[in-house]
Amino acid sequence: MRRLFPVTAETDDREWSLAELAAAYAHPEPRPGESGAWLRGNMVTTLDGAAQHEGRSQPISNATDMRIFGTLRALADVVVVGAETVRQEGYRPARARAGFEDLRAAAGQPPAPAIAVVSARLDLDFALPLFTSPLTPTLILTGAAAPADRIAAAEKAGARVLIAGDGVGVEPARAVRALAELGHTRLLTEGGPRLLGQFVAAGVLDELCLTISPMLAAGDAQRITGGPSVAVPQRLALVSLLEEDGFLFARHGRS
Ligand SMILES: NC(=O)c1ccc[n+]([C@@H]2O[C@H](COP(=O)([O-])OP(=O)(O)OC[C@H]3O[C@@H](n4cnc5c(N)ncnc54)[C@H](OP(=O)(O)O)[C@@H]3O)[C@@H](O)[C@H]2O)c1
Repeated sequence: MRRLFPVTAETDDREWSLAELAAAYAHPEPRPGESGAWLRGNMVTTLDGAAQHEGRSQPISNATDMRIFGTLRALADVVVVGAETVRQEGYRPARARAGFEDLRAAAGQPPAPAIAVVSARLDLDFALPLFTSPLTPTLILTGAAAPADRIAAAEKAGARVLIAGDGVGVEPARAVRALAELGHTRLLTEGGPRLLGQFVAAGVLDELCLTISPMLAAGDAQRITGGPSVAVPQRLALVSLLEEDGFLFARHGRS
């Protein structure tokens, strides 16, 4: 992998160690007076803006993208994900990644991040390992009007349900606050597009790690964000740009 930005004297094209990747994607230190929560998104897109092919993101990803995906998970306290992505991608519990044990222990984190599923209907299969046998208990973020029987089923399976909205749905900023109140500040969202668009619209997405896959998909795939557009497009600053095998790994953050 090569670093294209920031420009350095380093020009070699070589496999990066996990420690180098972890350093390249380290979460910023919280600023005094802030809740400390930092919400990072990680998504992959084709050149023509497709966020999936035949309902999955795997066909537009590659091995390096998955390595960065794993690194970002290994740095996170919690992985926040929309219920449709859980259903379509068959989410499993996050695993403890080899090579990150010391880093996580030093940061006061359990061996693996919790997965936090955002859902209004809670139409989820609570018999799945995601709920019954995670290393770190799975969280469910939902609204106060969520079906009581589905909340009971989630809790019976071992999930912790957090109410982060007064109605049927979750209010994105409240979800971030609810996680921060539990001490989860290194937040990673893996979308999907409908959820990510709400984080953007609410102004709570701090950073976007975007893999640009050198592929064209055409068709009617979603792009990486959905939902209503924002009044004024939000400008982010380029933090870093890596390249391998024609795939670009961009990191943009709030300036
Ligand atoms: N390219 C990428 O990097 C990437 C990343 C992730 C996913 N994807 C792809 O994106 C597709 C799925 O994404 P999607 O946009 O359709 O769905 P999504 O955002 O993953 O999930 C949507 C679901 O999340 C729940 N939800 C969203 N906002 C909510 C709110 N404010 N309050 C309560 N619940 C809320 C609802 O669940 P309930 O219906 O349970 O109420 C809703 O149906 C898949 O094809 C996947 O492969 C691509």
